Amino acid sequence: MFSQSLPTPPASINMPFAPTSSDLPPHDSPTIALVHPTAEEKARTWKLNGSSWRGQLSLDAYLCREEHLASQPFCRDEGMSFWILVDTASTGSSRAILASCESFRKRALIKRPGKDVQEVVSHGIGSVFCNPEYRGRGYARRMMNELAKHLDGWQQKGGEKAYFTVLYSDIGKDFYSKSGWRAFPSRHIALHPLIEDSKISIFNDELPVADPLHPEQLTELCKDDEIALCNTLAKPRADKTVISVALIPDEKVIRWHHAREEFVANELLGKSPEIKGAIVQGEKGHRVWCLWTRTFGSEKIGNTMNILRLVIEGEVEELEESGLTSSRDGLEESHRWQVLAATSVIQSACFEAARWGMNDVQLWNPTPLTVLAAKKIDPCTEIVERVDESIASLRWHGPELDSTTELAWIGNEKYGWC
Ligand SMILES: CC(C)(COP(=O)(O)OP(=O)(O)OC[C@H]1O[C@@H](n2cnc3c(N)ncnc32)[C@H](O)[C@@H]1OP(=O)(O)O)[C@@H](O)C(=O)NCCC(=O)NCCS
Repeated sequence: MFSQSLPTPPASINMPFAPTSSDLPPHDSPTIALVHPTAEEKARTWKLNGSSWRGQLSLDAYLCREEHLASQPFCRDEGMSFWILVDTASTGSSRAILASCESFRKRALIKRPGKDVQEVVSHGIGSVFCNPEYRGRGYARRMMNELAKHLDGWQQKGGEKAYFTVLYSDIGKDFYSKSGWRAFPSRHIALHPLIEDSKISIFNDELPVADPLHPEQLTELCKDDEIALCNTLAKPRADKTVISVALIPDEKVIRWHHAREEFVANELLGKSPEIKGAIVQGEKGHRVWCLWTRTFGSEKIGNTMNILRLVIEGEVEELEESGLTSSRDGLEESHRWQVLAATSVIQSACFEAARWGMNDVQLWNPTPLTVLAAKKIDPCTEIVERVDESIASLRWHGPELDSTTELAWIGNEKYGWC
């Protein structure tokens, strides 16, 4: 089903002449370069990589989705860049695309010891792909190495250098780490969907009421979240040799995720989700909310309700970092209201997941308070350490770090994924 307002699929893409594998240059050939594709080449990459990423969509619908996403505010004005690896010495009517990928400009924050928090331009990389016929020849590796050099200065103002870029690997930790994208904590908790009348009751406490969040509330909440994130990074740290970085969960980023879920839901189910999260209201500084998106996977993988971002106002950064080492009872006692409010918004996600036929609700890199909240819903909740898929990986492009300096990725949640 294609709705009227969505773009029409690109004109059918005839595969033009492509060189056979034996005509291809070696991966270290000096004539190989990373360039931006023409419109025809871009369509060719989507048609090829659709086999890997279209999920339950038809190929035509997948091509439409990619056009639709590329036209979102997050991607406009060169927010999204396309890259292909080609042989510049190729003389055929159509050059072979040896490998391809996309990058997304992302607003980010960085806090260096002794300096103020600074807004910087980062990039997220996605859709890394090599034509099955050309695999195993080192082209993807060459592309990532070339891309790392390009992203050093890509879209930076005044000739400045990038500080960091990110990607989310679905092929384990080794491939990208060899090109400098180091694997960071990639954990999540998963909860079952809940039928609404199974509301939980905890120690006779009533959970604070969580209201549904609608798209028109995103503008203000995202702004508040950004300010709070900035303040979190600004807090002095006990250890002076940590550089903290964060991607900003701004409105454009969140709406890009929602554009994706709406497109796919319309295609597969003929309806578009309107509820985008849940909030326990209160005075500013004392609210708890989460934003979510429904991810429709292949028939084999199934659908997941992903929490894009969970905000517990007033949650202190040390808590976020202390993992699960802090005493559970102590934490629960001192943050009782926050835990209950987080329980309530996560429970809302579980209800919404049941309404939409999701397999589970996933929340990335949960803080100790979030884990306590999840355990109230399901005491068996455990933290899953991902080793193959969605490995959050970060490449440092800034000045060389000495061996005592650590990088901390704050807010490493699903909203950063691309
Ligand atoms: C992943 C992919 C881009 C690799 O392309 P490629 O050109 O065959 O890769 P290269 O020949 O440059 O391989 C370089 C290295 O990566 C390794 N590698 C290749 N594919 C891999 C995979 N799927 N998983 C893990 N490692 C892989 C190779 O073994 C090789 O290792 P080495 O340097 O130690 O010898 C390609 O298989 C592909 O398009 N897959 C489908 C889409 C996909 O999964 N993309 C990644 C999304 S995160």
